[in-house]
This record gives sequence, C-alpha cells and structure tokens, in this order.
Amino acid sequence: MKTLEIVNPPLLFVRELLIGDEVEKSNRTLADLKDIFQDKQSYETIAPETLLYEVYCYLPEKEGTMGALNFGITHIYPGKIGLEYFMTKGHFHAQDDRAEYYWGIEGEGVLILMDRQRNTWGEKMFLGSLHYIPGGVAHRVANTGNTVLSFGACWPSDAGHNYEEIAQNGFSARLMEVEGIPQLV
Ligand SMILES: [Fe+2]
Repeated sequence: MKTLEIVNPPLLFVRELLIGDEVEKSNRTLADLKDIFQDKQSYETIAPETLLYEVYCYLPEKEGTMGALNFGITHIYPGKIGLEYFMTKGHFHAQDDRAEYYWGIEGEGVLILMDRQRNTWGEKMFLGSLHYIPGGVAHRVANTGNTVLSFGACWPSDAGHNYEEIAQNGFSARLMEVEGIPQLV
C-alpha cells in the first residue's frame, strides 16, 4: 500500500465465515482420524470419507515466524462414533510454551484440555465463549450439539502442531454421551 492510502481489509470475518483471497481451506475426514475414536465397531459402520470438520486459515507470515499470529475458523459437523462426539485431532504445540485463544461462534461443544501431568478437563463452547489455552496444554474440540459447531482460533505462527503425542497416547479421558449428556470419562 501507499502512504496515506486507505484500503479495504484483505480479510472479512462475517459470522462463521472467513473470507479472503489468501484464506486456505483444509478438510478432515473420518479416515484422517482413524484410531482416535474408541468404538472401532461403530467406526467401521461409517464411510471413511465422511467429513468431520473443515478449517479455514489465514497464515499471514511463513509458518515458524516468531512474533507473527495465525487466525482460523473451524466448523465441526454434528455426529458420533458410538458414544463419542465428532471432534478434532487434538494437539500440543510443537513449541510447547506457546498459548492460543479459541472462541465459540455457533453451535455447542466442549473444549477438552489436558496438561503435561495428564490432568484432563473441559470448557463448554457456545456463541461468545472465550477460551485461553496456556502453553503446555493439549487441546481438542468436540461438537456436542445437533448443528455445526464453529469456533475461532488465534495462535502464534511459531507454535507448530504436535499431533503425534495425542495420536499415540490420547487424552487421559474421553468425552462421551452418558445418560444423554456429555461427560469426561
Ligand atoms: Fe493449537
């Protein structure tokens, strides 16, 4: 841009939509989350190409740039594998001390958090809920409602994702529907 010029912003964030030329989209299907869900029999009954969630990201700087911030919106579809809700893969940050904000935009869900001592707890997500995720805390989101759950995220560009640790060891509790309500068990 030129000095003194006033321009349109490169991004629009309207309700649950993130719009802009540089927004990148990715999809996660059930096949991408193989071994994440406990109920293998139920897993086999659902098509592997079933879409679990979509992520729209704006990464203004190269991944790994210290001091830069990324922005994303995730839409998780409603559904369950057995008694377990559709959810994100979950991760620690590769740079373990990096924090992140999540916030609820629509739908209902639970942000599942686990610290380095493997203590697991949850925070309810809904329109207006705001969640600070400190460094060293793994995070995953489950859609506990009957409609799409959308949430926003803002995280340091040098945080990175450590999915492997969660893929191998999981969280110390699972969010299941017990007697009709979501509970960590
Ligand atoms: Fe994260």
